[in-house]
Amino acid sequence: MHASLITPSTVPRHIAIIMDGNGRWARERGWPRLKGHEQGSLSVRRVADACMSAGVEYLTLYAFSTENWRRPAHEVSGLMLLLERFLSEKVADMIENGVRLATIGRTEALPAPVKKRLDRAMADTAHNNRLILTLALNYGGRDEIVEAARGIARGVQAGTLKPESINQELFASHLDTRGMPDPDLLIRTSGEMRISNFLLWQLSYTEIHVTQKLWPDFGADDLKAAIADYASRERRYGASMENAASITIPS
Ligand code: IPE
Ligand code: IPE
Ligand code: MG
Repeated sequence: MHASLITPSTVPRHIAIIMDGNGRWARERGWPRLKGHEQGSLSVRRVADACMSAGVEYLTLYAFSTENWRRPAHEVSGLMLLLERFLSEKVADMIENGVRLATIGRTEALPAPVKKRLDRAMADTAHNNRLILTLALNYGGRDEIVEAARGIARGVQAGTLKPESINQELFASHLDTRGMPDPDLLIRTSGEMRISNFLLWQLSYTEIHVTQKLWPDFGADDLKAAIADYASRERRYGASMENAASITIPS
């Protein structure tokens, strides 16, 4: 890929979002936190539609982190029920709109009914390719990296892999995101300036857009504003302003 893309006049190919602020949205109204999560789940459809209109190919949403198990049990089970409902209500729309559902994270540790619905939804949408909608569920960047290291170590132990052949490309092929391009744009809602264990490897050169908007209030116009912000950036990948246009970007 050539660095004429360094000043991206086009839309990002891959957008990742840390969907934050559901609890604050509910608190502002004196409502229980789950109300905020419920409202937040409605934003997903709006944003997925806006991504498709803009020509974004990959949308990756941080829905439940490996640390979110620390929340009160009723909030965790409420989130799982919401996810189940989201899947049962939205798969038909996904099929109609050409959306392929994927996941990253340790979904095998999710409650069995959620896991079952997820597997079915992924199978039912497997042939779509207009938008790859990836839900990060029981996902943690460190956990993903450790798991990749474990897989590589197994290969070395079995004699199928030489330590000298471990490089960035091979490492990336052991991550949950294998086959996907790295995110071009990371959006975090509700103003927090942190990564919170999201896509630690993949975000190396991602442009970051933080908005004060809470996730339940985030809509198509906010997505457009984030894309416009992205388009105004100059991506240099470590090169200088003078020679950035002639470097080759690792894909
Ligand atoms: C994000 O909203 C949703 C999840 C982490 C599941 P929060 O629930 O973190 O909302 P705040 O940060 O408390 O406002
Ligand atoms: C990050 O939000 C996780 C998700 C959006 C799923 P959190 O609300 O859990 O992150 P912290 O605790 O503020 O870092
Ligand atoms: Mg939060």
